[in-house]
Amino acid sequence: MPVDLSGPLMSAFKKAKKEFEEAIKKGDKETARKKALECARILRQLSKYDEFNRESYLKKAKEWERTAKDIEIDGYGIKRKHKPMREGGSRGKTGGDESGDEEEDKFKRYVENFITKSKVKWSDIGGLSEVKKLIMETIVISALQRPESIQPWKGILLFGPPGTGKTLLASAAAGSLNATFFSVKTSNVLSKYFGESTKIVSALYEVARERAPSIVFMDEVDALTTKRNQEQSEASRRMLSTLLTELDGFQDKKSDILVLTLAATNTPWDLDEAILSRFPRRIYVPLPDKEAAKAIIKIHTKGLDISKLDLDALAEECVRKLYSGRDLKNLCQEAIWNMIREENPNLHKLAELPYEKLRRRSLRTRPLEMRDFEEAFKKIKSPLTRKEIERYERWAEEFGG
Ligand SMILES: Nc1ncnc2c1ncn2[C@@H]1O[C@H](COP(=O)(O)OP(=O)(O)OP(=O)(O)O)[C@@H](O)[C@H]1O
Ligand SMILES: [Mg+2]
Repeated sequence: MPVDLSGPLMSAFKKAKKEFEEAIKKGDKETARKKALECARILRQLSKYDEFNRESYLKKAKEWERTAKDIEIDGYGIKRKHKPMREGGSRGKTGGDESGDEEEDKFKRYVENFITKSKVKWSDIGGLSEVKKLIMETIVISALQRPESIQPWKGILLFGPPGTGKTLLASAAAGSLNATFFSVKTSNVLSKYFGESTKIVSALYEVARERAPSIVFMDEVDALTTKRNQEQSEASRRMLSTLLTELDGFQDKKSDILVLTLAATNTPWDLDEAILSRFPRRIYVPLPDKEAAKAIIKIHTKGLDISKLDLDALAEECVRKLYSGRDLKNLCQEAIWNMIREENPNLHKLAELPYEKLRRRSLRTRPLEMRDFEEAFKKIKSPLTRKEIERYERWAEEFGG
């Protein structure tokens, strides 16, 4: 039977908390931060002795850890109001605290909306083999038994032009692992939940940990930079601060659970140092080269006969036209439609048939031909210019890695 140390621990906690408050009054940030961490540590120990209040202690410990982090990143001008712990745990709770819990539950329920099921597989992605490899390695490392000093990446930043497969990569990471996939459009959270975006981010990571393995996909992460979105800048700053705290995730360092954040942006040059420093791995997701373009064409013409196509010539044309993966997919769709319309000239007339009869008919197809693509090329225009691509390349050279 382990010795119950909760009495002395509670005294130690009270002492540390008092010292924390004094340091705050004096404006001594470093001591305040250390004391906040001490409070958190003691609460975690306390949680081991009091089964009944375990959750409550852990929650409070997390609050103290956040406070410590807030003090550390105070340079961003953010100080979260810390609710001091009521000694005695949840049993001694007042109505006020309960409504706090209810609110937290509300946010947790809300972030469930971000969860989507991903069926995307690695083989659905053409090219990008280096990026795929890095993400796969990160996932594998977090699952393997390993020495404590080896930590997998907690966050990877994917940057590159629109339509190059950033969302697809995140979906494949989740799909291959059968992980809980949280797909979050940063700008949506900011515009819809303005003042409450921090609570959403905290709830998001809490649910992600509960449901691990999880992939958190933060799309348009550039929306968090204060350079843009002037009127949202306060909300962005708060959301950013919370996100950074979660990414640092020091409370989970020893834990084996996988919560991988993949952030994506089309405008990496907008990101500020605070975000960049949390994403030491920044991966350029470029336009497809010739080999990648061939692979992508094969993926998006799957099930059809492409033996008559000169894939090399097609791929070269796509590279010349600065096509992204999305453009390639649209090109294939167009070409396929050209073939289908030719083979089934009266297709639209069949719309008059009852659905049951339609179900019994099948579509006529033939092998795809170059002329199907020649027509399609006229319709698909890349929105990108050579100059814009160069800007990505320069950024990748300077900051990527
Ligand atoms: N490498 C690829 N292999 C196969 N398909 C691709 C590839 N890249 C893009 N696509 C196709 O294009 C679609 C759009 O790609 P995706 O949404 O991943 O781009 P993105 O980089 O997230 O773009 P954005 O920056 O606009 O969000 C995908 O759903 C897929 O059909
Ligand atoms: Mg995307």
